[in-house]
Amino acid sequence: MTPEIYEKLGQFYLGRQVETDGKPTDDLVLYDSSSLTTHGVCVGMTGSGKTGLCLALLEEAAMDGIPALIVDPKGDLGNLLLTFPQMRGEDFAPWVNEEDARKAGISNEEFAAAEADKWKNGLAEWGQSPERIAALRQKADIAIYTPGSNAGIPLSILRSFEAPDHAVAEDAELLSERVQSTTAGLLGLLGLDADPLKSREFSLLSAILQDAWKKGSSPDLAGLIGAVQNPPFASIGVLPLDDFYPPKQRMELVMALNNLLASPGFATWREGEPLDIANLLHTPEGKPRLAVLSIAHLSDAERMFFVTTLLEEVIAWMRRQPGTPSLRALLYIDEIFGYLPPVANPPSKGPLLLLLKQARAFGLGILVATQNPADLDYKALANCGTWFIGRLQTDRDKQRVLEGLESASAGRGADRAKLNEMLNSLGKRVFLLNSVHLPAPVMFQTRWTMSYLRGPLTREQIRLLMDSSRPAKAATTAAVAPAAASSAAATGATPEPPAAEAGVWQLVAAETASTLIPTLGLRARGTFACKRPVAETAADFMVSVPFGPDGKPAWKNAVVAGSVDDTAPPVPHGGSLFAPAAAALLQASSHGAWQLEGRQQLGENLEVSVRRTGSVTGAPFEDDADFRLRIEQGMREQRDEAVRRLREKFSVKSKAAAQKVERARETVARQQSQARAAQMQTAISVGTSILGAFLGKKTMSLGNMSRASTAARGATRAMKESTDVGTAQERLNAAEAEAAEVEAELEAQIAAIPSPADAALQTAETVRLKLVPSTLRIESAGILWTA
Ligand SMILES: Nc1ncnc2c1ncn2[C@@H]1O[C@H](COP(=O)(O)OP(=O)(O)OP(=O)(O)O)[C@@H](O)[C@H]1O
Ligand SMILES: [Mg+2]
Repeated sequence: MTPEIYEKLGQFYLGRQVETDGKPTDDLVLYDSSSLTTHGVCVGMTGSGKTGLCLALLEEAAMDGIPALIVDPKGDLGNLLLTFPQMRGEDFAPWVNEEDARKAGISNEEFAAAEADKWKNGLAEWGQSPERIAALRQKADIAIYTPGSNAGIPLSILRSFEAPDHAVAEDAELLSERVQSTTAGLLGLLGLDADPLKSREFSLLSAILQDAWKKGSSPDLAGLIGAVQNPPFASIGVLPLDDFYPPKQRMELVMALNNLLASPGFATWREGEPLDIANLLHTPEGKPRLAVLSIAHLSDAERMFFVTTLLEEVIAWMRRQPGTPSLRALLYIDEIFGYLPPVANPPSKGPLLLLLKQARAFGLGILVATQNPADLDYKALANCGTWFIGRLQTDRDKQRVLEGLESASAGRGADRAKLNEMLNSLGKRVFLLNSVHLPAPVMFQTRWTMSYLRGPLTREQIRLLMDSSRPAKAATTAAVAPAAASSAAATGATPEPPAAEAGVWQLVAAETASTLIPTLGLRARGTFACKRPVAETAADFMVSVPFGPDGKPAWKNAVVAGSVDDTAPPVPHGGSLFAPAAAALLQASSHGAWQLEGRQQLGENLEVSVRRTGSVTGAPFEDDADFRLRIEQGMREQRDEAVRRLREKFSVKSKAAAQKVERARETVARQQSQARAAQMQTAISVGTSILGAFLGKKTMSLGNMSRASTAARGATRAMKESTDVGTAQERLNAAEAEAAEVEAELEAQIAAIPSPADAALQTAETVRLKLVPSTLRIESAGILWTA
């Protein structure tokens, strides 16, 4: 077995096939990564090897440059950080289970050495070298995040109820979905399991969030409390607010929210990195990351809140990605219990259903695991393309999984009796893989994981593992340079932005500048295009229009200042000085007029540049890391497409071969049963005649005579039938060999697909695109501070 085979881009090495009777074979199970875009389910009793399998799959993803979000309710996915290319006992020692060493009656060191040996041998048995482990560590960043705790990298999720961005805010259905699940999550956190249709708390909080988000504002918890006391609207539905939900009773909700805010554990929920999916999936340099989101330390309500918030963020992130038929990222939930139940409707269910329906188009594969087949809403999983079914405890569990599978596309046309038989023969680490992408179910044993599966990590161990990669405390902002301050004083610049009328927004486009200059800013949307080479891209962007000495916008000098996302509100006394602004810039009425005027004045003079290499065109304002990700995704798409074309090319051939095997198999079966019948007849005839003789018939009657001769004839027939079986069996063998050959040829051709040329950043050219004036839409006007 050469590693080259399974290191091919787009193929995940999951294990080796086993025969129906459990006998191992040498055939590798390599699964196309693009098959996972239709999502996967992994079911099996405790200890059946689900986590081992999914962890191996995540390792494969990392080897292929595919990042993953890993929801870890049990704490054992952090084992992904336990990879030791040198496989020395001392590498394992800090992580072995001391209790196990004690039970074995040996020292920790001895036990660690034994574990190291076990891992080395296990990996070797599965054809994996220490270099492969080194490659895994080099190719991906692996980190443990701990919301509400600083054992790992803390994640803040309650800093504010962040207004969703364009992609969500402008889709009424998505926005309402997000409002609903955030409200439900928050009420769950308060211990109020509210029914969205009946609960006043639910109606009020969701109306407050909807109102805030529509205005683009992001209230924090304190802001929410204020809004519950004095809502920014006077009615809910058709009822006056105070009738619907009298102030006195609203006070109870205020108290509950306030208790949450004041609770000692709450502070940690506000600390740490913001929950930003793009930042979780890749390092700033663009390296893929396996982001383990450890939630074992949280209460049930907190877990639900976190998972729901995470799923909502994933939806928003997903909506910003271009469509792709290839796998871009994975979302793995190690124990789906409680998040996707068949009957109940917890806050997580809405966003999960939405993801299961829509994520495929964006290349996001969802993988869920569970011990208990009763925990799953099979209707939601009907389109799930990949099923890994491990050993199950009870017959009822087996039947339930089979039913679920039958109702899913992956199980249509499956032979239930055969599947049932296969389920009965599953051992530890042996799974039945049923997939819409495979012609038949396959049984396989999972490969040995590169990561050391030591079981759940304690908080202290997580701290130890993550200490080395903890980000250094951010340096405090540099003080204002005194020189800039003094020279600015002469020009009238101030350390605070000027006060503008209500409705006039102010944003800063420059990251650092000693003195910021006010310009007219326009938030706009439009399409940019270029004829040679042909390229086109739609973008949200910010236009900066300088102000002439006449106090009017100099439209001719307008430029695209960058992405809306790269601007930030001005920080008073933040180190920059603000130059004086023309009076007109501070008035709301002038901005209204300019917004209309801009539509006429702005045109082809607005340009953006994008980068291009091979067939990949980047997006405006994209940094190197994002452009590299785009190139890599393009390579995956190329390869998946090549594989798909080969499969298609071979499909007639392999179908014909499979049919031939099927026909030959039927012939063998038919002749076997004929032969059996003939033998039986012969045995009966011979038996009875001989029996007759034995029973001491003194004289041989004619009848007996003829019976004996019939028996003799029967024996010849039985012989003939069995030679027929012989030739039919030979034909079946030949047909099977032929089918195997076709399969092998296909595999060989897939293996021979050249890896797409490593399209390098250096070879990228820059293309300038001009605005197509008819597509310009100006959304709002305000003050944009530039350098
Ligand atoms: N691929 C593998 N390579 C090496 N060891 C494995 C592998 N899979 C499972 N094991 C061993 O089997 C044990 C149990 O497997 P695993 O944790 O995957 O079970 P599980 O199905 O996830 O159980 P649970 O439902 O309790 O989480 C692991 O702790 C590990 O020791
Ligand atoms: Mg597990």
